[in-house]
Amino acid sequence: MDTAHPETAAPPIGPFMFRILDTKSQEPQPPQSQSTFYRNLDEVLDLRRSLSNFYSVLENTWADHGTTDFYTGDILGLGKSQARRAEFLDELARCPDFTIGPTGSRAIDGTYSYLKKAELEIASFHGAENGLLTSSAFEANVAVWTAVPRPGDVILYDALVHASTHEGIKQSLAIDKFEFPHSSVDGFRRVLGDIFESNRLVREAKRTVLVAVESIYSMDGDVCPLQELVEVSHEFSRGQGNVQFVVDEAHSLGVIGPKGAGLICELGLQKEIAIVVHSYGKAMGAVGGFVLASTTVRHMIANFARSIIYTTSPSFPFVAAIKSGYKLLADGHTEEAQERIQQLVGFFFETLTSHPVWPTAQQMGLLLVPLAKDWEERPFLTHIIPIFTRQKYNWWLFFHILDSNFYTFPMEHPIVPLGQRRVRAVLHAYNTEDEVRRFVNAIFTWVEEMMFIEDGRTGFAVPHAARRVYAWMAQEKLTGFGKP
Ligand SMILES: Cc1ncc(COP(=O)(O)O)c(C=O)c1O
Repeated sequence: MDTAHPETAAPPIGPFMFRILDTKSQEPQPPQSQSTFYRNLDEVLDLRRSLSNFYSVLENTWADHGTTDFYTGDILGLGKSQARRAEFLDELARCPDFTIGPTGSRAIDGTYSYLKKAELEIASFHGAENGLLTSSAFEANVAVWTAVPRPGDVILYDALVHASTHEGIKQSLAIDKFEFPHSSVDGFRRVLGDIFESNRLVREAKRTVLVAVESIYSMDGDVCPLQELVEVSHEFSRGQGNVQFVVDEAHSLGVIGPKGAGLICELGLQKEIAIVVHSYGKAMGAVGGFVLASTTVRHMIANFARSIIYTTSPSFPFVAAIKSGYKLLADGHTEEAQERIQQLVGFFFETLTSHPVWPTAQQMGLLLVPLAKDWEERPFLTHIIPIFTRQKYNWWLFFHILDSNFYTFPMEHPIVPLGQRRVRAVLHAYNTEDEVRRFVNAIFTWVEEMMFIEDGRTGFAVPHAARRVYAWMAQEKLTGFGKP
């Protein structure tokens, strides 16, 4: 591979080098020629650059090179399927007089008949009473947490909930906000117990504890023990309804449950869960969010969520795109893809755990895949697979995977907690067993290379894919990305 310049380097590592190049600090300007405004902004950006967690807003060109997609959120392939396109165009054709713009805010005149009908259809698909469509799940989470908790209510959230939930919680009217250890039923019982013990208003059922969890966690890919958490909540609320759940199903829509309706439908917990948030930016292959809830909660959001009140309501093409996705789900069109994900993820774990190097790789801490533990015993598998190595090797593993023509993404702080870097892989219905087999082999090729390096059996301290990236970075005077 020619590493002289990203333009000439072999894909997909070449396209990724543009991202690295984008982290290059601006040429320092003489202080007197810089305005205070830009100098201060550049200072902050430079700090991000120095930590290798600068987000580049660059065109994504890796996919143009036949690179296997083990990263995007289009899990079922619905975003690019011909059936979906046809369904969307049919939906437009069924409404030839559509208006592109929705004319106003939800709170005033932005709720038109097509939108209202779609919301009721979506709610009914998920077995909910009512619902509200939003621009994104981020907006939906912020709306829920800013509108629903009342002063005196208490928020209890899983340690790994999404940034949008944190954002909403930060802005909420509740003052008492507690975290419980990630997916720990005992941890949940302990913190909930402390809340009931110390808060008289909660104990007397005058105020509510609102619990924030996700059905599948976005960075860890594990499934929330929702049934168990609900049972624990009953031990405390004793039928008074003062512990309620808000479940973010961003990663389970389309993937889990009957016709992809999500974890709550899979577990039959529709009556137990007060509020559910869905995202259409992942398996639905569209964009948008949805709050499934009672009519009362819908009224609360419409009246108190500033991000909903002071913005234009969802447009017709936006709603039609979502509706066309639901049509395919409801018709059973995606069931095969759903099943395929189960098979493929099972095949991944089987190939991984039966590899002759797997036991040593784990022992040496060179390869850790927490979800591979007892994978056969789980009732269903999920498409998100975090792959850990030693923290200082995370970029090296990623560069090797990329160099083997697979696209994943290295997750760094602040997206994941400090000390929990990982490469995050996502399996899709359109991936093949051959791709999965080659992917697993590529990972083990890297592990073996690292074993040789650690044994001092090569003259190198850095594996070959990373070495080539760093050779080019040295020419460009770039640092970071695990470069020693
Ligand atoms: C758990 C979770 N909730 C919410 C969101 C936000 O979704 P959207 O892209 O629809 O705003 C994401 C997106 O990454 C997510 O992972």
